[in-house]
Amino acid sequence: MLGIHLCKRFYKWPTKINEIKKLYNPISTVSLNQVLNTTSPNLPTEPTKIKGWIKNIRNQKNISFIEVNDGSDLGGIQVVGNKDAFHQLKHGACVEVEGSLVMSQGKTQQVEMQLQSVKQIGECPEDYPLQPKYHTMEFLREIAHFRSRSNTFGAMFRIRNQASMSIHKYFQKSGFVWVHTPTITASDCEGGGEQFQIKHVPSPDLPPPSNLQAGQEHHFFGQPAYLTVSGQLEAEIYALSHSRVYTFGPTFRAERSNTTRHLAEFYMIEPEMAFIQQADNVDIAEDFLKSIMRDVMENCREDLEFFDKKVDPQLLVRLNKALDRPFVRLTYTEALEILTKQQEVVFENPIKWGDDLQREHERFLTKKYDDVPVFVTLWPKSIKPFYMRENQENPLLVDNMDLLVPDIGELIGGSIREERYPQLLNRIKELKMDEETYQWYIELRKFGSAPHGGFGLGFERFLQYLTGMKNIRDVIPIPRHQNYCKF
Ligand code: 4AD
Repeated sequence: MLGIHLCKRFYKWPTKINEIKKLYNPISTVSLNQVLNTTSPNLPTEPTKIKGWIKNIRNQKNISFIEVNDGSDLGGIQVVGNKDAFHQLKHGACVEVEGSLVMSQGKTQQVEMQLQSVKQIGECPEDYPLQPKYHTMEFLREIAHFRSRSNTFGAMFRIRNQASMSIHKYFQKSGFVWVHTPTITASDCEGGGEQFQIKHVPSPDLPPPSNLQAGQEHHFFGQPAYLTVSGQLEAEIYALSHSRVYTFGPTFRAERSNTTRHLAEFYMIEPEMAFIQQADNVDIAEDFLKSIMRDVMENCREDLEFFDKKVDPQLLVRLNKALDRPFVRLTYTEALEILTKQQEVVFENPIKWGDDLQREHERFLTKKYDDVPVFVTLWPKSIKPFYMRENQENPLLVDNMDLLVPDIGELIGGSIREERYPQLLNRIKELKMDEETYQWYIELRKFGSAPHGGFGLGFERFLQYLTGMKNIRDVIPIPRHQNYCKF
């Protein structure tokens, strides 16, 4: 009886839920994006309500046009109404407009609204810093609390959203498990000493912990702790239980370089895979990057065309070229041969085998290959982190790769990991690292170890690559870098 009773109640649920939604849905207005994609036979007969911000006001003798945008689409909707209806409204104000949707006579939009009523939700006095005129990127950075309402940043953050979703989609359909690696860590994955240390700021009213000796520093976590520079080491734990995992989260580096491609807080995507070898890692990185690019290009066509038109006229040509051609693959030694033998450019920093590539060298290589991304593999062990696996044929090299792209330089860094217990332990000793801190990492090699590897894609550099934006500070909602922590 109970079963039948429940079934009946469940049977009625869907219609009830829809009725309740209609009455109480807090998002009862439709998004602009839905409205703008409506075609003639499907235009609603009843009035439509839209909430958003006024982007533009144009007055004619008796009628006025306002453009309203809610951030869901590059183009706003044009609302046509009696001049009096709009007379108190200013550019930037937040409004609710209601009216009938009609096919537009104008060339720039296909649907417009004939106004029935307008309500001001939030006024916008004339000293609004975001005016309908050209603003420099530097100025927009100063008003990062408003810049997302501009066309460029509106498009940027829709692309950022799409790229995040495409990344998750790629991994989920390929059988990867998403792991949330910690933000607070005791290790230094890259060994670059660019970490931020975390300090507990105790209330001055509280007595110091009783077990603390005079002059001893209090560590909240019982030992020094830092913001992570990479989730890789912890992702390795899960690759050695779930085979294919990825982490996608914030990472922090105390970069002193105030450049257009460094942030102190940035997002990294790090897949980590058991049972792969060097060539697999490179193949997977190329397939991954191309799939995400394709997905974003399919889903954000209009926003990318905007960047192609307004920011970088070569953008779509370059992206299509990268998609259509195989990425270039060079070993570090081959790259060095090219760089040292070329006669076209005099480098500010002459390079020799064993040195790291500087930006000018990276630029030269991507230019040489017609802007197609270039993998540089098998680097000298001496300039790479402790965890990279020694190359089988040449112990001076490691099985790793960096992917270089035009203008930005290194977009991806990855490697096969040293999975052999004695070799890893030796390397840690050689580099005089603290064995105790890495004890758990070393133990992974002792109990059920397996060949494994992966890579890290810097999300903001990837967004620069996708949009042609010159400065990395303009592809993250609120940038963090040296001497800057506003907002
Ligand atoms: O080459 P990196 O240092 O590699 C790692 O962190 C590895 N643990 C990844 C792995 O194998 N799982 O950094 C990876 C990428 C770089 O290629 C670059 O795109 C980005 O992270 N990156 C930065 N992006 C913005 N600001 C910074 N300060 C960055 N440092 C690195």
